[in-house]
Amino acid sequence: MTSNNRSLDPTNLGQKNTEQKTSLLEAFTEVRRQTEQICAHLEIEDLVVQPAAYVSPPKWHLAHTSWFFDCFVLEPLNLAQTSQSPKYHYLFNSYYKSQGEHWLQSERGQLSRPTVKEIMLYRQQITGAIVDLFESNSLSKKQIEVIATGIQHEQQHQELLLMDIKFILGHQPWPAAYESVADLDKNLLPARALGWLESTENISLFGANLNAFSYDNERPRHRRWISGFQLADRLINNGEYMDFMTDGGYRRPELWLSDGWDWVQKNQMGHPLYWRKQNHHWEEYQLRGLEPLNPNLPVSHISFYEADAFARWMDARLPTEFEIEAYCSKDKALFEKETAFWDPSEAVYPSPRRACDEFDTGLLWQWTNSAYSPYPGFRTTNTALGEYNGKFMANQYVLKGGCVATPKHHMRASYRNFYRPSDRWAFTGIRLAKDL
Ligand SMILES: [Fe+2]
Repeated sequence: MTSNNRSLDPTNLGQKNTEQKTSLLEAFTEVRRQTEQICAHLEIEDLVVQPAAYVSPPKWHLAHTSWFFDCFVLEPLNLAQTSQSPKYHYLFNSYYKSQGEHWLQSERGQLSRPTVKEIMLYRQQITGAIVDLFESNSLSKKQIEVIATGIQHEQQHQELLLMDIKFILGHQPWPAAYESVADLDKNLLPARALGWLESTENISLFGANLNAFSYDNERPRHRRWISGFQLADRLINNGEYMDFMTDGGYRRPELWLSDGWDWVQKNQMGHPLYWRKQNHHWEEYQLRGLEPLNPNLPVSHISFYEADAFARWMDARLPTEFEIEAYCSKDKALFEKETAFWDPSEAVYPSPRRACDEFDTGLLWQWTNSAYSPYPGFRTTNTALGEYNGKFMANQYVLKGGCVATPKHHMRASYRNFYRPSDRWAFTGIRLAKDL
């Protein structure tokens, strides 16, 4: 990271007004360029398909991230950019019910129109209109906040794009490589014994520090009593997960939550998402292509149910979101290390990644056993953006730590990601915990 990159951080909202706007404009144009770079390495057919209901076609992400600025910044100013805007409003609204009806998520891949070319034109129009707004020097504080949120939103979609691209290319009968990109580096991770970090009981502060950007679900900052615990000092690797499978892990109902066992039976689950057996040998699909399973790499793309069953098999448990946050908060530099997270300003797409510290920060999202629920005192705002997080606080679990596909400057210890317990197309992994 160069010193200049730091100025691209849209969360530096404490700077003076002009400097802040310049910084935000640079961050805006950079994030728009980077999203297009991620898709530039795909064939046009890859941009359109939707192989699962929860996967979105890349062209939809390109459009939706533009719609976000169109809907929440330009339309309130009567600056709708295109005669197509009413149609695009219907097609590219994801889930904001306050903004009217929208096309079904599960059917995004049904649409060949608008074309990729039309969507790219829409992107250019929206980018240009937002840049014009900056240059007109008429942005209000509220509009600046919404644009900052739009930048963070597009960064989230950059990670979603990589998840969806991996699913699209990895589910071909002959999986395709995403250029030469790597996700987990196959060479640099050393094998080492699992160690345990100990923390005694204490009262600690949790949640977002208000000096920087945060989502509403990270607030309010509050104190909690934490009992003594042990946290594994690295993620579980493929070799250890293979031992679980060999020991009948997927055939022993006593290891599974009831819903998890039903999920295994119904879907005939027997291994992580991107593992496949060829001629008696296990292989794993990484974005760089199919390769022999590396026992030293962290096991990835597993569900909460699998992570929970594995923890029970190890006579351990999954950590709470607060146990992981407590550890990450101890070392503020943990999320600013050179190797943590891919850097949109320096790379066309994520580069090979190794464990960036002794704690494996930034490799895989870590499942916690914390239900995704509101912090004490949490209230959704009475605006359209109030739909961003709060309404999903049911039947999902919190994940912490970030992953190889998370853009740099998008992570912090208080960040709360969340998925359904059966989801495993995100870059997820396992960290264990124990009671003291
Ligand atoms: Fe979105």
